[in-house]
Amino acid sequence: IKSIGITGTGKALPEKILTNKDLEAMVDTNDEWIRSRTGIGSRRVADEDTATSDLATESAVKALEDSGLAPEDVDLIIVATVTPDMAFPSTACIVQKNLGASKAIAFDIEAACSGFVYAMSVAENMIQGGMAKNALIIGAETLSKIMNWEDRNTCVLFGDGAGAAVLQEVEEGYGIQGITLGANGAKGEVLKQPAGGSRIPASHESVENKLHYIAMDGNEVFKFAVRIMGQSSLEVLKKSGRDIEDVDFLIPHQANIRIIDAAAKRLKLPRDKVYINLHKYGNLSAGSIPVALDEAAKEGKLIRGENILLVAFGGGLTWGSSLIKW
Ligand code: ACO
Repeated sequence: IKSIGITGTGKALPEKILTNKDLEAMVDTNDEWIRSRTGIGSRRVADEDTATSDLATESAVKALEDSGLAPEDVDLIIVATVTPDMAFPSTACIVQKNLGASKAIAFDIEAACSGFVYAMSVAENMIQGGMAKNALIIGAETLSKIMNWEDRNTCVLFGDGAGAAVLQEVEEGYGIQGITLGANGAKGEVLKQPAGGSRIPASHESVENKLHYIAMDGNEVFKFAVRIMGQSSLEVLKKSGRDIEDVDFLIPHQANIRIIDAAAKRLKLPRDKVYINLHKYGNLSAGSIPVALDEAAKEGKLIRGENILLVAFGGGLTWGSSLIKW
């Protein structure tokens, strides 16, 4: 059994910043409400010409640079996204073309905000099984493109961005110690983009009824998130043969500061052991954890030999955790 870990990270964020003040002019909301209920202060928004694959490619180039790999060394590309450029070809195939990574298998996976942790598990297993050696896993979103900018219940929460990581065999004992994933499709109704697929194909009516936008029952998602962040963390620790005391640093999905604080409390971690960037970016869905991972790594917050816990939850409903010895 191989030790598989992260050998490079990268991120890409659109330049345009949309502040809470800007949103006050668009919907009936205010900076105080958004900050106190969510912890979000601003978010990035892609321009008309920027699609998810553009951000994904930029983050991937940086991750490759960071790991010292060339595009032709990559033999697997997985993009996790709910905002692909189009239904097909996959965003991963577009990234493969952009990078010139001609030897890579490429496909997308969709597990909403848990997508990056799901991608990590798939890539780990493919490397473990001998299907790949050098994997590029990317979480990338342009959620602004599926946002109803007249719905204050959702438009204040999300942002655009992408993060990437290179996964390879690493020194024995380091790298991924365990990953656990979960899903509960029976509760999937609380978070969805209803139209654009085979259930409700695009039509004048679907557009008129605003069915191509994110629809969410915030309270239900909130309750689920608080419960599952704790549960999923404990599961991955158990699987890895570790305890709460063994967690040195937490990189949670960045959806709401109150959800993050609840998870940190459960893990008995002080704020300085928890990476937080949602005040700058909001919820980046699948992009959330890899962007935070890249920033934490570049800021020197991830220390060799320490145990880093990644915890995600999202649409599906889905969840996942990964414990990594850095
Ligand atoms: N500005 C001002 N008021 C608002 C806003 C806003 N942007 N949004 C909602 N309100 C109002 C509501 O209408 C409600 O008013 P009412 O009492 O008159 O009906 C009031 O504020 C309180 O609403 P609550 O829903 O009770 O507010 P709460 O404190 O629960 O916060 C929130 C809502 C922030 C959405 C919270 O429930 C949450 O964060 N949920 C999780 C969302 C999430 O993480 N989603 C992403 C999942 S990941 C993925 O896969 C994409």
